[in-house]
Amino acid sequence: MAERYDHFIGGQYVAPIEGEYFESTNPATLEVLYSAARGTSADVHAAVTAAGRAFEHASWRDLSPTRRGHLLRRLGDLIGENAEELARMESRDNGKLLREMRGQLTTLPEYLYYYAGLADKVQGSQIPTNSVFMLNYTQREPLGVVGAITPWNSPLTLTTSKLAPALAAGNTVVIKPSEYTSRTVLRLAELAVEAGFPHGVVNVVSGFGAEAGAALVDHPDIAKISFTGSTLTGSRIAASAAARFIGCTLELGGKSPNIVFDDANVGNAAMGVVAGIFAAAGQTCIAGSRVFAHRSVYDELLERVAERARSIVIGDPLLDETELGPLAFEAQRDKVSSYVELGISEGASVLTGGNRPDVDLPGYFYSPTVLTGVDNSMRVTREEIFGPVAAIMPFDTEEEVLRLANDTDYGLAAGVWTQNLARAHRMSRRLEAGTVWVNTYRAMSPMSPRQGYKSSGVGIEHGLESMHEYTHLKSVWINTDEDPVADPFVMRG
Ligand code: NAI
Ligand code: MG
Repeated sequence: MAERYDHFIGGQYVAPIEGEYFESTNPATLEVLYSAARGTSADVHAAVTAAGRAFEHASWRDLSPTRRGHLLRRLGDLIGENAEELARMESRDNGKLLREMRGQLTTLPEYLYYYAGLADKVQGSQIPTNSVFMLNYTQREPLGVVGAITPWNSPLTLTTSKLAPALAAGNTVVIKPSEYTSRTVLRLAELAVEAGFPHGVVNVVSGFGAEAGAALVDHPDIAKISFTGSTLTGSRIAASAAARFIGCTLELGGKSPNIVFDDANVGNAAMGVVAGIFAAAGQTCIAGSRVFAHRSVYDELLERVAERARSIVIGDPLLDETELGPLAFEAQRDKVSSYVELGISEGASVLTGGNRPDVDLPGYFYSPTVLTGVDNSMRVTREEIFGPVAAIMPFDTEEEVLRLANDTDYGLAAGVWTQNLARAHRMSRRLEAGTVWVNTYRAMSPMSPRQGYKSSGVGIEHGLESMHEYTHLKSVWINTDEDPVADPFVMRG
């Protein structure tokens, strides 16, 4: 009998009000791992109410910023102490390589430590207005109850990217994790209580997007929504937030260009292309799914990428030798394979992959795929596939590739491979992408802010700036003049 998990509200597990649960599956083996509570608007209301009370309660509201930082540091320590358990839990739930999860778990405490250090630097400034008798200063206040809605591709990391800055700034949080991966996020909330966060500061309501997710977005007592996921859902959330004038931070999709110039080290570039699109089976928002290779290195790059793609070891994500696990659920694999079919019907050729590999597990595996004969106007080069599918296209000039790279609805990330320093800076300046990597791909740090262009999102994640997104900036004026307050109807010169 698989385990069953309730919502985590007010510091404890709480059964769903309507009593319903749904199952979560291991996408490699198809075994049912556990069932999670199917949240409704009543459960969301209970969680937002608990978070609202916690926000008002002296144990949180009056806690010194340094103590707040201390709790975050303690949570980072606990994540580190439970790293292996969390890594296995998440790997089994979404099919990510255990090896990659262990890597994520070694950096995850750093997210907590970074924002722990910022918790007592949530400061305003004194503004030198032109009125000499006026003292004007700003202060940053927490917003209140923040709603966080997160996806399945990296649940712990993407949830922590919201939780840590929101808590550092003094907010309380209700998280709605993806229906495919509730477990590690629930465990994270347990660890927050163990770390000493007052009950109700971190709450989790599991369930489906259209039910629990929409109820959280629409709850009148939510002060802000922070979302990572698809562009379609993000635009719905933005509309709902706009109607109530609450803030939203949206981290959405991408169709990122990875550009290899003729002066690049082609061996390094090939590894960067492979990492960009096949790591995490391409299920990352930053996937380098559009590869542009200068015509003079196109054949060599193609050959190197295809050769590595063919030798990728596909299989059980828990095994050390595995390099590519399954896609996270059946609909995701169907989506990937139908995009490859669509590409073929649009005129693309499959250089390698394009099928289900031969793996002795029943899960949702899909081969690393390289498409050629594509151009930047096809649906496979314009829409986010979110799978291990690279489209490789030749180009002739820097101007041309810049135009092609920027000719997309998205703008999350871009890679540039060149030995030419001036070109590296020129490209970095002109690419419409929130993150530009030169001679590397996928580098990331909680310290480095990310802000997508165009349909890739709104607002900033990571860095000091992200913490500021969870604050309200207030301006305070104090009259220090001893003279009587002037009659307002007498004009002063
Ligand atoms: P999604 O955007 O629908 O789901 C992400 C989160 O939003 C989940 O927690 C979900 O329950 C919630 N959600 C869904 N509808 C909602 C609504 N109306 N109101 C509030 N919350 C809602 O993405 P999904 O269905 O998991 O994946 C579909 C596609 O989205 C993928 O194939 C991929 O292309 C893209 N995606 C992109 C991600 C990225 O980081 N860029 C992450 C996850 C998905
Ligand atoms: Mg699962």
